[in-house]
Amino acid sequence: MCGIVGYTGKRNAKDVLITCLRMLEYRGYDSAGIAVVENNKVRVIKSVGKIDNLEQSVSRYDLSTSTIGIGHTRWATHGKVTLENAHPHKVGKVTLVHNGVIENYKEIDEKLNKYEFKSETDSERVCALIDSFYNGHNEIEAIKKATSLLKGSYALGIIFEGNNKLYGIKKDTPLVLGIGTNEYFLASDISAFLKYTKEYIVLDDNEIVEIGNSFNIYYEDKQIYKKIEYTDYDLEEAMKNGYEHYMLKEINEQIDISRKLYSKYINDDNFSDKLIDFSKYKRIDFIGCGSAYNASLIAKYFIDKYCTNANFYCNSYMASEYRYTNHYFDKDVLTVFVSQSGETADTLASLRMCNSEGVDTVAIVNVLTSTMAREAKYVLPMLAGPEICVATTKGYFSQSYICSLLVLNLMYKTGLIDKDKLLSIFDEFKKLPENIEKVINQDYKKVAKSIYKSEDIYYIGRGIDIYSSFEGSLKLKEISYIHSECIGAGELKHGPIALISKDTPVIALLSEFSVAEKTINNINEAKSRGAYVVTIRKESINVDKKLSDCDIVVPLTNEFIQNLLIIIACQLLSYEVAKLRKCDIDKPRNLSKSVTVE
Ligand code: M6R
Repeated sequence: MCGIVGYTGKRNAKDVLITCLRMLEYRGYDSAGIAVVENNKVRVIKSVGKIDNLEQSVSRYDLSTSTIGIGHTRWATHGKVTLENAHPHKVGKVTLVHNGVIENYKEIDEKLNKYEFKSETDSERVCALIDSFYNGHNEIEAIKKATSLLKGSYALGIIFEGNNKLYGIKKDTPLVLGIGTNEYFLASDISAFLKYTKEYIVLDDNEIVEIGNSFNIYYEDKQIYKKIEYTDYDLEEAMKNGYEHYMLKEINEQIDISRKLYSKYINDDNFSDKLIDFSKYKRIDFIGCGSAYNASLIAKYFIDKYCTNANFYCNSYMASEYRYTNHYFDKDVLTVFVSQSGETADTLASLRMCNSEGVDTVAIVNVLTSTMAREAKYVLPMLAGPEICVATTKGYFSQSYICSLLVLNLMYKTGLIDKDKLLSIFDEFKKLPENIEKVINQDYKKVAKSIYKSEDIYYIGRGIDIYSSFEGSLKLKEISYIHSECIGAGELKHGPIALISKDTPVIALLSEFSVAEKTINNINEAKSRGAYVVTIRKESINVDKKLSDCDIVVPLTNEFIQNLLIIIACQLLSYEVAKLRKCDIDKPRNLSKSVTVE
C-alpha cells in the first residue's frame, strides 16, 4: 500500500525523506517521489520503480538547503504506474501526497473544470480541490472545506507554496506524527521515522495537524492536546541483522516469539488473565484476510473438534465476505478480528460493523498503534515485532499460536480438559523454541532444487493439514509466482487429480495421525499418476520411502502446536524455491504489506 512521509526540522529534508521512504518499502510500491521546499519554491521529483531510481533523480538537483518536505511510495490503484500518476501532486499552490481511495473523485473532477490534470489519480483531484479553497493564507480552512467533500479513505501530507509548514489529515487510513527534538515527522507508520525518534502521536479521523517550529492539532475548529506516546520498537528489530532477506530473519524470529508469547499468556502454569475467556459466549466468529484468515481456521478446527459437544459454535470468515453478509448478533456472540497490520480495510470494516451492532470484539493484532488495536473492545497483542517481508511468516505463527491458546483456555474453563492434561500441553509449549530450531536447521535447499522449475505445485492434506496447506500454498505462490493450489487429499480423485502428470510436485502434509493412512492412500493415487511427492510429516507418522521422493520430518509435539512446526517447514521450502527462481522475496510483485483498500 502507499506510504506517506513528511519532515520539517533542521536536517536536510530530501535525505530524511528518502531514509524514511526506505523504511516503508516493505509496504509495497511501484513508484516514489518527494517534494521539498527549496528557496521558497516547491520542487517535485518522482520516479517509477525503486527508491534507488528516485535517489538518482534527486541527486541531479541541488537541494542542500531544504528542511521541509513530503514523500510517497505509490502502489497503483487509480491509474497505471507512470511518472504522472506518481506522487507528490502539485496543483496551484498546493502539493500533497495521499494514501487511500477517494470514491467520489469523478464527481469532484467535474466540479474542477478550471484545472487541467496531468494524472489519472484521485489524489491530484484532491490537491486541486484544496487549492480551489485556498486564499493564500488560511491553510486549515482550505483543508477542512476540501476534505468535508471527500468520500472514501485518505491520509494526506500537504505543503503550501509560500508557507513553511507541513499539514496532515486522515480518515480511515493511518497517519502518525513523529516528535523529535526540534524536528517533526509525518508517516503512515512509526517504522518510517524510528531512526530519528520513538515519540509519536497517532492522529484520529478528521484531526488536522499543523507543523512548523512546533505542532498544533485541531479537531472541529478547536485546538486539542493529545498524549505523546513512546514505542519500544527497535530499529535493529526492523532491520535485516545480517540475514539475506527479511523473510529469513522473520522465520528465525519465531523461536523468540514463541518464548514471548508463552510468558505473556501463560503464568505459573496457568492461563494469564490477559487471554480472553471465551466460555461466556456461545458463538465465536473469527474474521481475517489472507494468512490471518488461514490462522483463524486453526481456532475453528479445534473448537469444532473439541468444543461443539459443549455447545460452542465457531466459524472463520474472510473479512471481505463477512462485512457483506447478514449475521445474527446477541450477547452470546464474540467476534475476533485477526490482523498483523491492524489496518486491513475489509477486516477493519467488519470490526466497525460489529462495534456498531454492540457485539463484543477482540483484535489479535501486531501493530499496537493500529486502528484495529484502538477500536476493538479487547486486544491480544501478537508480540511479533515489526514484520517487514510482505509475505507473513512470524505474523501467521503468532496468530495461530494465540488461536490455539484461546481454544485451550476455553476447554480448560469449561472442564473439557483437566489441569494435568493442560500442564502436559504447556510442557510442549515450553519446548516449542527448541523444536522450531530443529525445523529451521534442516536442509530445504535440496528439496527446493527438485521442484523450483515446476509451474504448478499442489499441497494436499486432511484435517488440520488442510488449513496448514492453505497457508503453505499461499506462501509458495506469493513469493515464487508458481501456481499452487491446496486440495483436500480426499478431494483429489473428485477432479484435481486430472492435473497430475509426470513429475508434478505434490506436497503432502501429514501431522494428523487419525487420518494419516487415508492421506497416504491419496499420495499413492497421485504417485501412480507420476507425481513427484514431497512429504512434510511429524516424526511419528511413517511413509514408505518408495512413496515419498523427498521427506521432511519435524519433531513430534502436542497437536495444538504441531501445525506450527509443519508450517515453518513450508515457509522455508517456499523461501528456498523463491530464492532459486531469483524472485524479489521480501517485496513480491503486485503485493503490498498492508491492504488498506477494499
Ligand atoms: O495485516 P493483515 O494480517 O490483516 O493482513 C492480511 C493479509 O493481507 C496478509 O496476511 C496477506 O495475505 C499476506 N501477504 C500473506 O503472506
